Amino acid sequence: MCGIVGIVGQAPVAPLIVDALKRLEYRGYDSAGVATIAAGKLGRRRAEGKLINLERRLQDEPLDGTIGIGHTRWATHGVPNETNAHPHFSKDVAIVHNGIIENFAELRTGLIADGYEFASQTDTEVVAHLVSRELAKGLGPVEAAHAALRQLEGAFALAIMYRGDEDMIIGARNGPPLAVGHGEGEMYLGSDAIALSPFTNAITYLEDGDWAVVRRGSLEIFDIDGNRVERRRQQSVGTSYLVDKGNYRHFMEKEIHEQPEVVSQTLAHYLDFANGVARRGDTPFDFAKIDRLAVAACGTAYLAGLVGKYWFERYARLPVDIDVASEFRYREMPLTRDSAALFISQSGETADTLASLRYCRQAGAPIGAIVNVRESTIARESDGIFPTLAGPEIGVASTKAFTCQLAVLASLAVRAAAERGHIDAARERVLVRELSEAPKYINQALKLAPQIEKLARELSQVKHVLYLGRDTNYPLALEGALKLKEISYIHAEGYAAGELKHGPIALIDEQMPVIVIAPHDRIFEKTVSNMQEVAARGGKIILITDARGAAQSSVDTLDTIVVPDVPEIISPIVHALPMQMLAYYTAVFMGTDVDQPRNLAKSVTVE
Ligand code: F6R
Repeated sequence: MCGIVGIVGQAPVAPLIVDALKRLEYRGYDSAGVATIAAGKLGRRRAEGKLINLERRLQDEPLDGTIGIGHTRWATHGVPNETNAHPHFSKDVAIVHNGIIENFAELRTGLIADGYEFASQTDTEVVAHLVSRELAKGLGPVEAAHAALRQLEGAFALAIMYRGDEDMIIGARNGPPLAVGHGEGEMYLGSDAIALSPFTNAITYLEDGDWAVVRRGSLEIFDIDGNRVERRRQQSVGTSYLVDKGNYRHFMEKEIHEQPEVVSQTLAHYLDFANGVARRGDTPFDFAKIDRLAVAACGTAYLAGLVGKYWFERYARLPVDIDVASEFRYREMPLTRDSAALFISQSGETADTLASLRYCRQAGAPIGAIVNVRESTIARESDGIFPTLAGPEIGVASTKAFTCQLAVLASLAVRAAAERGHIDAARERVLVRELSEAPKYINQALKLAPQIEKLARELSQVKHVLYLGRDTNYPLALEGALKLKEISYIHAEGYAAGELKHGPIALIDEQMPVIVIAPHDRIFEKTVSNMQEVAARGGKIILITDARGAAQSSVDTLDTIVVPDVPEIISPIVHALPMQMLAYYTAVFMGTDVDQPRNLAKSVTVE
């Protein structure tokens, strides 16, 4: 999604703004721009495509000025081109925006009637003209911004700057996050703390409905009614991580290889290995008292939740309702008095997941959230959080956050099982020991990279791929297909293997690779039957299994990837690795933009 940066500084800010925008690249974008004020004039450079294009523009035509705003745009209203790129101007007003102004059509009609001309197709330009119109009515810059904000409906984070005031940027937040950074005689605005990490770790997060007047020497925050509000200044955590690729070609490759470490850290947070128990911690609900857990999330986080459903129901006998958040938020699910709600989100900012959380808040259910960004909105609005200790995830395709979400869910399922009396202390000890072995097996799975890379070369030649799995391997089949399509652009579908004959079998021919995830578990034989059905129709099977499964599969395969033999509870965590590596190497062969695939955004702050 769009990224925002603003600096009221001491030195020329354009290069600093570009540097900060680079740290927001991971969010996904398709154009970028910077505006500054120098010698009483507003100047701007914008470019379609990657930041390198903007940097070239700035090299050819540099921008002076010690105050400026910048933006990476992920198109919603209007195609991604230079004209639609932010910042947008209206007379003396410059503005950048993340989100969607829902009443923009109506506002635009009124502004056109008042003689305002629109240069772009964006909803953002409406805000620039609204502020301008308030100035024209005689309001001062701060009052004009406030008056304009009151007219907006929808989700937005905004930074507004005025020709004529080189000591002030106004920031506003209603939905998408916005952070104020405190420097030495300088102040900053940014979509997240990572963007501001080269400048400062001292951060104040704006809350929904807040707007702020940011000057070199002061910060004033107001609510939408104009009352002063106080927001805590905090030391941002997590930004000490070096946001670079190290020796890896892509962030995604680096993040895949970080998994033994981050999964280990995450498990250690939830499990007491020495005593063989899942830590009781301060969960906002009592697993022994609830009779249903409602789970909502999007994309890969949803698929982690789907694996979690199998675990909670199997080990803790706790029924789980799970939905993609964009459905959950509108389907008016009844929540009983004994229900609890759990949300899963790497970024903690996903608009649909946040809206689902707010639905449950209104319904009175206790709310927990599995999040990677502890300062995020979802974290702040939950009654309790279950952090994943994955560190910043920069690759748009989620990898380490997914396995860490699985590690949290598995740990919670064991805890719920113990609290609900469905496992005794001895069984809990065994499960905790088995979970503690996950990092070791992830490490072993990483050693499959050369074989998977070879196979990926073949996969990069095909147009369609089918993924099949049963039980927890069904969500993994969905995840494998999602990963492949998002970074290699190859069409892929995941199915429950038992569903094959209810439709997708019609797709099978000699051209169709079918990736089957089938470790030797209690339903292995059933999946083997499905593989026979594929083989009988000439489909090319790629089997991902363990040594026992490989020995007993009795089906000819194009390739068999033998994953370590692991205990059932950690099987999804370990089997996630070949899914990720297969997608990664295929995308590398396809030559796609692995870390920032086309059209995708890392943090989806609009519906
Ligand atoms: C896929 C992917 C997305 C995210 C989804 C939710 O690789 O990364 O599907 O999982 O957009 O994002 P979060 O977890 O930030 O809520």
